[in-house]
Amino acid sequence: MTRIDSTPTSAMLAPTLLHAGQAGSEWWRDAVIYQVYPRSFADGDGDGIGDLVGITNRLPHLQALGVDAVWLSPFYRSPQKDAGYDVADYRDVDPLFGTLADFDALLAEAHGRGIRVIVDLVPNHTSDQHVWFQAALPAAPGSPERGRYIFRDGQGSDGELPPNNWQSIFGGPAWTRTTNDDGTPGQWYLHLFDSSQPDLDWENPEVRSEFEDVLRFWLDKGVDGFRIDVAHGMIKAPGLPDWDGTVSMVEGTEGGEVVDLGAPEDGSTGAGNSGPMFDQDGVHEIYRAWHRVLAEYDGDRALVAEAWVEPLSRLARYVRPDEMHQAFNFSFLTTPWSAAPLRTVIAASLHANDEVGAPTTWVLSNHDVVRHASRLGLAEPGLRPNGIFAHEAQPDEELGLRRARAASLLMLGLPGSSYLYQGEELGLPEHTSLPNDVREDPAFFRTGGTEAGRDGCRVPIPWEADAPGLGFGPTGKTWLPQPEAYARYAADTQRGVAGSTYEVYRTALATRRAEQLGSGTLAWVEEYATSADVVALRNREVVVLANLGDEPVTLPRGAEVLLASGPVMTDRSGDPQVRVPSDTTVWLRAL
Ligand code: NOJ
Repeated sequence: MTRIDSTPTSAMLAPTLLHAGQAGSEWWRDAVIYQVYPRSFADGDGDGIGDLVGITNRLPHLQALGVDAVWLSPFYRSPQKDAGYDVADYRDVDPLFGTLADFDALLAEAHGRGIRVIVDLVPNHTSDQHVWFQAALPAAPGSPERGRYIFRDGQGSDGELPPNNWQSIFGGPAWTRTTNDDGTPGQWYLHLFDSSQPDLDWENPEVRSEFEDVLRFWLDKGVDGFRIDVAHGMIKAPGLPDWDGTVSMVEGTEGGEVVDLGAPEDGSTGAGNSGPMFDQDGVHEIYRAWHRVLAEYDGDRALVAEAWVEPLSRLARYVRPDEMHQAFNFSFLTTPWSAAPLRTVIAASLHANDEVGAPTTWVLSNHDVVRHASRLGLAEPGLRPNGIFAHEAQPDEELGLRRARAASLLMLGLPGSSYLYQGEELGLPEHTSLPNDVREDPAFFRTGGTEAGRDGCRVPIPWEADAPGLGFGPTGKTWLPQPEAYARYAADTQRGVAGSTYEVYRTALATRRAEQLGSGTLAWVEEYATSADVVALRNREVVVLANLGDEPVTLPRGAEVLLASGPVMTDRSGDPQVRVPSDTTVWLRAL
């Protein structure tokens, strides 16, 4: 286990302007984008599973919060083996979530409220129920039907061994053997995820043209962009060579290990994936082609890469001027709550993205990781478990929330775009006591129940403290049980309540917009960094100061606090001076 090293890095001491702003006025450069996970956001029809009508009904919440766009996780026709990331029909809505007409209504309503809509595209694999895979199974080896996927003969005298040693990211082998019509064992197919998610062969031109057509289908409807699932995985190294490295449960993370807090100068945190199945140079040609498709449409449509790639300079290749527009910064997400590595990752991120003229795309939570309100409340900073069981060490709820609010205000004060995950604006913690018999994440099953998986961050949102199901839908049903604590976080208990997490986020978004922080600049401000545990930066006319140390930090006289992630103290003896307590971020008017 590695210990904390809080020695100031060279990045901390650099007095210079690290980021001078960027050319370009496209909306996505500085947008705050809110991730909606449809099955858990709001239920319109009362079956206990969130849906498109539910989302439409709750758009006023997002408008009041002040987000620029929403990203919708998949709502397409799917057997739901991986919560919709197993798509059977890319051009239809699953009946669980509604209809194409419901989608059109959602899009129109969102646009009417000034909110853009990004949808999710899952190109690395389809569902095994997709017509292509259903046609591939009975087809002969070498047939065009099989050529859309990665079918191979097995090794061994009877082909009884998988074609190579790759492991699925969800656990177990990445290959499943098929059975021929006559009952004899047949070829194997590759699935980097669950066996119900066969990988497509992106060397096949038919696959490429199909997905360009899918892009056009949704662009014609008027969507503002796409989040690209597993954007680093579509091309595999020629010959599919064996690989002895490990792929882990939550992509790219070293589940359960403490990260070296003396972060390398390139900001790497272990969020990257290497190996012959990831980050192959050939993926970039796909994104160049997609860039051209989007460029045919008006309105600066955008592509955002979900690519667990390090170092940041390697990730920046996905957002070169003729490729995608944004790439989630998972190095930031996986940086421990510690000032020195945070300064390093912020500096490295801005540097790498400036090299290609792209905005940095900050993120702290999503549907694949333990919510940051809980992650940051774990005893070991940097611990990144794939879910938390009730019998495991529990996060400190109060500490986690305090740090989460501080981390969010730090993130929202940075230049670039930021993603929020539904419920973080309420301060929701992870559900850490889900009974195993309600779990649905394939990661739990494929590890034989040794990893809790991702259900704990996917629990239905609490809207009203006193309503059945906390107002998730009209019947009180919820597809996963909500923890008792969620009543305390319900949206209706926070709206209009000064100092609530929701009001801190709402004020942050309004201030960020008014001060144009998303398109702003960044310089470290040493005069505020009175301890090595302080991250202090200037963005335009605002100083963002995060105190990660144990002791309060006293601000310079005359400092005007615009916003604070938690209570600050004013020392009224003599000249009043503001003190920022531990695990608190403030935004100040620059002196
Ligand atoms: C990344 C998605 O975010 C995750 O939820 C999914 O399980 C995998 N990709 C496979 O599609």
